[in-house]
Amino acid sequence: MERNDLNALKAWFSEYCNSFPPSCDEDRRNYDVKRKHTDDVCSNMLLLAQNLDLDDRETMLAEAVALFHDVGRFPQYQQYKTFQDSISVNHAALGAKVLIENAALCSLPNEEQDLIVRAVTLHNVMTVPGELDRDLLQLVKMIRDADKLDIWRVFLEYYALPTKEKPTAVGLGLPDIPEYLPEVLANLHQHKLVLLLSLKTLTDFKLLQLAWIFDLNFTASFRIVAQRSYIDRFALTLPKTNDVADAVDAVREYLNEKLQNG
Ligand SMILES: [Fe+2]
Repeated sequence: MERNDLNALKAWFSEYCNSFPPSCDEDRRNYDVKRKHTDDVCSNMLLLAQNLDLDDRETMLAEAVALFHDVGRFPQYQQYKTFQDSISVNHAALGAKVLIENAALCSLPNEEQDLIVRAVTLHNVMTVPGELDRDLLQLVKMIRDADKLDIWRVFLEYYALPTKEKPTAVGLGLPDIPEYLPEVLANLHQHKLVLLLSLKTLTDFKLLQLAWIFDLNFTASFRIVAQRSYIDRFALTLPKTNDVADAVDAVREYLNEKLQNG
């Protein structure tokens, strides 16, 4: 991939987004969230690429993955008016389909097309398959980190907005009450993630989002979590109980360990 190829991909993406005109304020807010998310994931990806000392070609490939990772969100929202995959469609698989059906990557060598499509497909899987080639595995790890690093921002902003200004498709429709499932906290202490489908309240979801830190791959990602004070900012949105405070401390300890060992 050359610089002009990447510029052409950015132009294609922008035109593709413009082919989903919002029909009301609510649509506009939801599409805007995803455009801004894409921009910010691209920036995060560049930070990681720099930290990993990638060369120009690898960096551009990583940026292309970031650019397209959520391309499926646009047709997903248009058809289903939600970003919840469980009640609509797997947006990563849909994104890969969009890229292939529109021949969006056709100017690139086959090997690069394949890497981008496969990294987009794998960006949201619960568990990354173990037997991936080195190049693909690195891209998958990078996009998963770059994505989470921005989803924390998206949700902190979402939680802070008054209800009528919230982008409606972002929430999971869970009740915003302080109760949480004991297994969500237990999993946090064991450095494990719970399944999205087992969550009952928004507090469960916030605790799951904190647990995403256990899925980060790179020291640079942990540094960004610390710089952006994500743990403290999430803690402020959680119920003030001793159990929750202990769980947040466990997450903080994990972060500090990673920062020291990195
Ligand atoms: Fe995504």
